[in-house]
Amino acid sequence: MIRPARVPKLTIKTTLFILAACLAVEGLGGLFFMASGLYNIAADEPHFTLARWMLQAGRTRSIQFRSRGIKVPNLRDPSLVRNGFVLYRKNCQPCHGAPGVAEQQIGRGINPKPPPLEIASNHWTNSQLFWITSHGLKMSGMPGFGSHLSETDRWAIVAFLRRIVLLSPADYERFSNATDLGIGGQNFSWVSNEDYGFAQLKAQGNSDRGRDLLHQYGCITCHTIAALSSGNTGPPLTDYAERQYIAGLLVNVPANTVAWITNPKRFKADTAMPNLNVQPAQALDMAAYLYTLGSPRRLTVLERIVAGHRSRSDY
Ligand code: HEC
Ligand code: HEC
Repeated sequence: MIRPARVPKLTIKTTLFILAACLAVEGLGGLFFMASGLYNIAADEPHFTLARWMLQAGRTRSIQFRSRGIKVPNLRDPSLVRNGFVLYRKNCQPCHGAPGVAEQQIGRGINPKPPPLEIASNHWTNSQLFWITSHGLKMSGMPGFGSHLSETDRWAIVAFLRRIVLLSPADYERFSNATDLGIGGQNFSWVSNEDYGFAQLKAQGNSDRGRDLLHQYGCITCHTIAALSSGNTGPPLTDYAERQYIAGLLVNVPANTVAWITNPKRFKADTAMPNLNVQPAQALDMAAYLYTLGSPRRLTVLERIVAGHRSRSDY
């Protein structure tokens, strides 16, 4: 009579004991591992993949959680964006670089590396960018600016970060020179009213036709496009939607892709890409196909920024 009652009890006890023992061993193991000095804490060695993944995932969740409820002011005010540019150049560019500008010595040798924000900003909402700028990131070289920059200044930087994805290296240099010469003003009006070709691409671009045209015009003899070809004269166009610049010069938006394909020499006289007499409508079709390659995230964010996304204050 007693036995059947005792067995499950013992089993639960044993299970709990084994669990506890396992946890203890694992914890001790972890401690020994850390104490042993086997884990390489050196900043010049990347974390190994699992540790990196766990840190990254934890970091993202934490930022998402902490930045909830931050109210975003109107970031489209041009003077705010301009002020943000000046602040960015002074406080962030040394580590993160900028379009066409490498990070300075201080930004090298930091691990993880400070990523180029003209690309990394796409992964974060306005309130998340504000939170990161204010608090910095633990266990990395990203400092918090909450104590030395006012709230308005930090929002100005976020306003600029939202625009930096639309700045070509040439624009950035122009603004930098204008600032150094003390002639800011209208030289900064890069938030243009045109829509960068997004609407036209949606309305008229035909990706099936575009793929055929890439064959007909021989684009694929020079360019590798994962699904179509393996040319090596030009840069690979695989993942084209994710590429930030065209020929290192123009921001990769539909209007610039069309302009480049129809007349590359206009932008770079000595480029090895020939003028192939592609008509704008055909270039639009080719662009429609090229933008199906790679993750659409970057373009989606850009499109929203360009549209002003007036119905929501955050993206
Ligand atoms: C001393 C160097 C340094 C300075 C100065 C600096 N950062 Fe960073 N920043 C970093 C590093 C290193 C990382 C990478 C952290 C990581 O991956 O955990 C980073 C990451 C970030 C990220 C997250 C990017 C991502 O998606 O991984 C943002 C946003 C950012 N910084 C914004 C700024 C802004 C805005 C400024 C100026 C106000 C600034 N940083 C100044 C070093 C710096
Ligand atoms: C003779 C070889 C050649 C042909 C043909 C050619 N390209 Fe190119 N393409 C290049 C080279 C080289 C570059 C790099 C340009 C530079 O940076 O100067 C380039 C750059 C590009 C870029 C910008 C990519 C980037 O990452 O910077 C796009 C887009 C592009 N080509 C599309 C096309 C399309 C579409 C066609 C067909 C209509 C085409 N190309 C035909 C050689 C070629």
